[in-house]
Amino acid sequence: MNEQLELAAAAIVRGELVVMPTETVYGLAADATSDEAVQRIFAAKGRPSDNPLIVHIARAEDLPLVARDIPDVAWELARRFWPGPLTLVLPKAISVSTFTTAGLETVAVRVPNHPLARELCLRSGRPLAAPSANVFTHLSPTRIEHLSPEIRAASTVILDGGASRVGIESTILSLIGDQPRVLREGQVSRAALEDALGIPVAVGPVDGPRIAPGQYLRHYSPDTPVVLVDKLTPQQPGLCFGTCQNANQLIMSYDPAEYAFELYDALFQLDQRKLESIGIEMPPDSPEWAAIRERLHKAAGR
Ligand code: TXA
Ligand code: MG
Repeated sequence: MNEQLELAAAAIVRGELVVMPTETVYGLAADATSDEAVQRIFAAKGRPSDNPLIVHIARAEDLPLVARDIPDVAWELARRFWPGPLTLVLPKAISVSTFTTAGLETVAVRVPNHPLARELCLRSGRPLAAPSANVFTHLSPTRIEHLSPEIRAASTVILDGGASRVGIESTILSLIGDQPRVLREGQVSRAALEDALGIPVAVGPVDGPRIAPGQYLRHYSPDTPVVLVDKLTPQQPGLCFGTCQNANQLIMSYDPAEYAFELYDALFQLDQRKLESIGIEMPPDSPEWAAIRERLHKAAGR
């Protein structure tokens, strides 16, 4: 792995792409300070250039390299949640490529909780722009087996870090504006953020243009159409709770963290079977399931 990391760090320095594991999902990484390198990410993913990327740094102390006017609350959140699945939106430092931020004055940044991701930041000496390593609108990979041929072909090195432990993308919290606002739900819950900050946290996109870019309706989807149901019929393929009634039903955990860990791999497996549709039994409408329900609604294209 040491040799792989050296090759990967050298590729980053040359402006090439590397697939790197994180605890949430695998990322397609490039030097966040290089216009050319970041443009390669957009090309490889077929991602619209108005959809900004998340920047990864090795440790909280490196935050001033990518952000400026950092408020005390950001440091407090960094102390509590980094390394981990919380992304903070802050005013952008000049060093970060405007392609990374899609022309915004803000940057989304986090310290990933995976040793290979942090080691790649350290050895390359660069902040790493890394969206999920999937083709635009497809499922985010949580294992290297999920990587598509397009993504494999576009990357110089693929670092295998095993299955991503969290399994869904990071919580995105904007610290721009009057009130902290969750732009994307994830394992770090709104309640945990309110507890850390001692003030209310808003959820959802702000009205008006380009505050929460990239909030496309259809996202994270398998190729097979997804339908959300209360209960699968005995013949229907899909994800269920409790007992399964046919070989194309996969049993999911009642525990939200376990469910998140299993979700993309379960969808990937069913997608391989070329079924007519995938039914998903909806988990309860309660706060601990919020991030998963958001992913399921998006998988169903609603
Ligand atoms: O868990 C994760 O966050 C993974 C791993 C690889 O770290 N990355 C990830 O990246 O999910 P991606 O590109 O799939 O999602 C990035 C999201 C986009 O929806 C984008 O709108 C939002 O982050 N974003 C990035 N920069 C932003 C900014 N300056 N303001 C608001 N939203 C931003
Ligand atoms: Mg993504």
